[in-house]
Amino acid sequence: MLRLENIVAGYGRTRILHGVSLTVPSGGLVALLGGNGTGKSTTLKACVGLVSVQEGKVELNGQVVNDVPPEKRSALGLSLVPQGKEVFAAMSVEENLLMGAYHRRSDRAGIAQDLEAVYVRFKRLRERRKVNAGMLSGGERQMLSIGRSLMARPSVLLLDEPSAALAPRIVEEIAEAILGLRDLGLTLLLVEQNVGMALDIADHIYVIRGGRIAYEREVGDGVAMEELQEFYLGGSEH
Ligand SMILES: Nc1ncnc2c1ncn2[C@@H]1O[C@H](COP(=O)(O)OP(=O)(O)OP(=O)(O)O)[C@@H](O)[C@H]1O
Ligand SMILES: [Mg+2]
Repeated sequence: MLRLENIVAGYGRTRILHGVSLTVPSGGLVALLGGNGTGKSTTLKACVGLVSVQEGKVELNGQVVNDVPPEKRSALGLSLVPQGKEVFAAMSVEENLLMGAYHRRSDRAGIAQDLEAVYVRFKRLRERRKVNAGMLSGGERQMLSIGRSLMARPSVLLLDEPSAALAPRIVEEIAEAILGLRDLGLTLLLVEQNVGMALDIADHIYVIRGGRIAYEREVGDGVAMEELQEFYLGGSEH
């Protein structure tokens, strides 16, 4: 389980998050929606420890991790697939994947197993394993970026706009892959601007606006798209 309680955070003296609280139950798939610059990535960075949290609590499986450095949070099972589908362009697909397991590089058997699991999940990556990552399509880079995070054996995975700038057919593939990870038992927090995709796959949604949670709802019995859009797009936050 991942829980944020009243997180106040930002860059230097600038506060971006003004008391964000959200919960991702174990095995749940929660989406955080919001427009550009509303604090979605900052929220994920607060979870993994890449931004300084001035107030509030970050809790991972019942443990407060505010003072735990990012690499230790990763060892506790938390992993971020960052925005932008970034890969090491001059390295092969397989080398990129192996980078995800760098912290446990002596565990050769385990790494081989995890690599095989990623290739089973993303068949395209197996076909292209010797290719330089810089040659991949946007969809393949997104799969690689997710695959690399999986190599760290996370229990809680944070995904920052995995569908951005991808064709609808590829967005569907990514959505399927995310559902596959849920079936595997992973706890998932998905940041998205693609509201339709998020509503299709998430159990619960939050909408952030101006660094505050403006709306939250269980998905199911038809979350009214119009209702959501009012919070998502509607007016200024004050
Ligand atoms: N490293 C940084 N230093 C200073 N300000 C930053 C930094 N990163 C982000 N910001 C600012 O924080 C605010 C929130 O940014 P954030 O990246 O969290 O937004 P976002 O919701 O992820 O937006 P997008 O959908 O465009 O990715 C923005 O005003 C942004 O300019
Ligand atoms: Mg962002």
